[in-house]
Amino acid sequence: MTIRWYPGHMGKALEKMSEAIRKIDVVIEVLDARLPSSSSNHQLQEIRRNKPCIKVLNKNDLADPIVTKAWVRNFEEESGVHALPLSAKQLSETKQLIKLCQRLAPNRGRPGWPLRAMVFGIPNVGKSTLINTLAGKGLAKVGDKPAITTCAQKIDLHNGIILSDTPGLLWPDMSDQEVAYRLATSGAIGASALDYTCVGLFAAEFMMRRYPQLLEERYKFSEMPETPTALLETIGRRLGCLVSGGGIDIHRAAEAFLRELRAGKIGRVSLEEPGDVADVSEDVILEGESAQV
Ligand code: G4P
Repeated sequence: MTIRWYPGHMGKALEKMSEAIRKIDVVIEVLDARLPSSSSNHQLQEIRRNKPCIKVLNKNDLADPIVTKAWVRNFEEESGVHALPLSAKQLSETKQLIKLCQRLAPNRGRPGWPLRAMVFGIPNVGKSTLINTLAGKGLAKVGDKPAITTCAQKIDLHNGIILSDTPGLLWPDMSDQEVAYRLATSGAIGASALDYTCVGLFAAEFMMRRYPQLLEERYKFSEMPETPTALLETIGRRLGCLVSGGGIDIHRAAEAFLRELRAGKIGRVSLEEPGDVADVSEDVILEGESAQV
């Protein structure tokens, strides 16, 4: 059993969200398709009442399509949950989200009786990008720094749907180190939160185990390096991450490797599969005083 701990102000934010959910018809939870469980906030499940929920597996363009299919099957086993992989940057793909909202709330979406949808998600999963694409203009701020969107806004999509931003912030549960490392590998948590070299070594070990072929194709190894450190050193040498004297700058090598991985240059990679994820149902949740993230 693990103990999850979250700050007191998060409890209040959840209360606010729970209240807001009363007045909406469809809950849209944006997840990162590369790590759908680690990028979720499990408390949302507790506060969403019986409202239909669409789990948007965003950044689908970066994720392993076979693993994403497994996630869709996994999520759709949950009652009232629909999973939709897409790329929030692609208008044509986000239109499927509109259609699904309309299907889930068929009685709404008329003049004076709009369909009210609310977008939830931890920082950096692509909420602002999704809202901007749907609204067709630069309304929500997009950026790499977590927590840029802080106040709720309502957007009339002019198709019978009113879209709202979350009235508060959702944070990932990072008490599990594996989760924290996956989030850091994806870029969802800032560089300062965890040491780059450690994150790079975690990512190198993962890629050697799960996607050795993609590494071979990208870096054209004559022989696969034997350890994660050797992998980073080899990549560092290729990418010119050197210190004076010709040695490898492992920190810069880790940074460069992570940059390539996050940008999808190594290929479409998923950082977790449904079977990898621990059951959180037995977790104990404690309230604390200050933020841990
Ligand atoms: P947030 O509101 O949930 O915090 O996330 P936000 O939309 O700010 O997006 C975080 C980063 O993820 C942005 O990159 C954004 O472009 C990128 N992103 C969002 N959706 C997708 C997607 O479907 N595919 C891919 N590949 N990337 C996506 P950034 O580098 O911080 O900003 P920018 O330089 O792209 O503007």
